Amino acid sequence: MRPGPIRLTRFFHEALRFELAYLEREILAAELPTEVEHVQERMHTFTRVLLWHAIGEDEEFFPALEEKVPNVTLPYCFDHEYESSRFHTLDVLADQCVAEGHPHDLIELKREISIVRHYIVAHMEKEEIHLWPLTEENFSESEQQELIQGMMGVVPRSGIITVVPWVLTRVSDDSVIECLRSLYTLFEDYFSLDLKQIIKSLVDEERWTQMIEAIPDLTE
Ligand SMILES: [Fe+2]
Repeated sequence: MRPGPIRLTRFFHEALRFELAYLEREILAAELPTEVEHVQERMHTFTRVLLWHAIGEDEEFFPALEEKVPNVTLPYCFDHEYESSRFHTLDVLADQCVAEGHPHDLIELKREISIVRHYIVAHMEKEEIHLWPLTEENFSESEQQELIQGMMGVVPRSGIITVVPWVLTRVSDDSVIECLRSLYTLFEDYFSLDLKQIIKSLVDEERWTQMIEAIPDLTE
């Protein structure tokens, strides 16, 4: 079975893994509760991205897969619910650390971030080895593209401006241009002038040059 468009999801998974590793590293390194202040904003963004991941799959991907291959997605829905509520709790705990500075909150935060990271990483691995091949076997390439478009469609327009640069600045150097090409091919309409400028402001000159070589329309 040839890899299909469903594997474009790997860029999101790669970005989620990168961010979880960063958050865990920074939180574990903190010696005082208030030292997690610099990760607060990234925790909030991660919570939103994780929720969109869950809603996109629960509402667009899983119902379509269930129609063709019944009874496979329920454990994944359960994971989504668990991960989203647990990460939300973690996010609140980080806010508490900064606001109140209790050492026991930091101990709890350190314990939780490692648990949640392992849980989310295992969840994505299961999707990759179990659900993607099932999808490739049962959906044509154009149907898979529609699934991806449906999943991305759950992100509100205001969130697109967050999520696209978020992914592009977290995938590896080897993936970034392919990721941009895929996003642009499927979601050209999303690339407003604002979004293009945000991307430009977040990458260095060399990366921007590579990006506009790949997608000349970015400069328009
Ligand atoms: Fe998932």
